[in-house]
Amino acid sequence: MKVQIEQAARYINRILLKTPKVGLILGSGLGVLADEIKDPVQISYSDIPGFPTSTVEGHAGQLVCGTLEGLNVIAMQGRFHFYEGYTLDKVTFPIRVMKELGIDALIVTNAAGGVNTNLEPGDLMLITDHINNAGQNPLIGPNDTELGVRFPDMSTAYDGDLQSIAKRAAERLDIALKEGVYVWNSGPSYETPAEVRMLRQIGGDAVGMSTVPEVIIARHAEIKVLGISCISNMAAGILDQPLTHDEVIETTEKVKDNFLIFVKEILSLYDQE
Ligand code: 6GU
Repeated sequence: MKVQIEQAARYINRILLKTPKVGLILGSGLGVLADEIKDPVQISYSDIPGFPTSTVEGHAGQLVCGTLEGLNVIAMQGRFHFYEGYTLDKVTFPIRVMKELGIDALIVTNAAGGVNTNLEPGDLMLITDHINNAGQNPLIGPNDTELGVRFPDMSTAYDGDLQSIAKRAAERLDIALKEGVYVWNSGPSYETPAEVRMLRQIGGDAVGMSTVPEVIIARHAEIKVLGISCISNMAAGILDQPLTHDEVIETTEKVKDNFLIFVKEILSLYDQE
């Protein structure tokens, strides 16, 4: 594992001019943020040894490295999902590689369904915690102690200081930032109304098909994490309408301007710390 990570990092380092400080994972419809990166260097996933290649529509499948608000960042434009058939080793490989490249903070973003009826489509939700409801864990198997401990603590999975920065950024921009617990379900089918009622009862506010594996690996690697969900639709049974991926893309399209300035403001405040 370590060998593959180093090999991928070496390939990327040969191309990059600067060491990235912050990693960004851009979810469905949110990849536009990578277009804001200054002096961009793009590296296609298919060119990086050990990287899987991305398959879902609306995902470009490349790393974009450069500066955002003066910070050296490395963005994943398109991520890998468990439901695509990738093993969780593959899904989370890029996190390991970004750690090897030198990041110490990771901003994970996703499109998610609203479970809490106080949320509405178009809301931005700060992820305060998560529930792994997929019955899967990317750390199952032998533990490489060079990469992290056998039993990583998850009591502060989402960094408190980064959450404070995000709240300050939202205030400065007058963006109504919601907060809540993100539930990971494997997908690719959406939930039934009964499952959504269950998720609400166990304390979930939003549900999606990503993020949690990456966050677990980031915490294993002692990377600080900030999570932001874009509520693209309400989960099943809340509104009287079927769920479609088109709706997810439509909503993220609408909120993308807010999303862009929000993440940029976070980076600018983080840079001042
Ligand atoms: Cl309603 N469920 C899941 N699992 N993922 C989603 C979603 C719902 N809406 C966007 N992504």
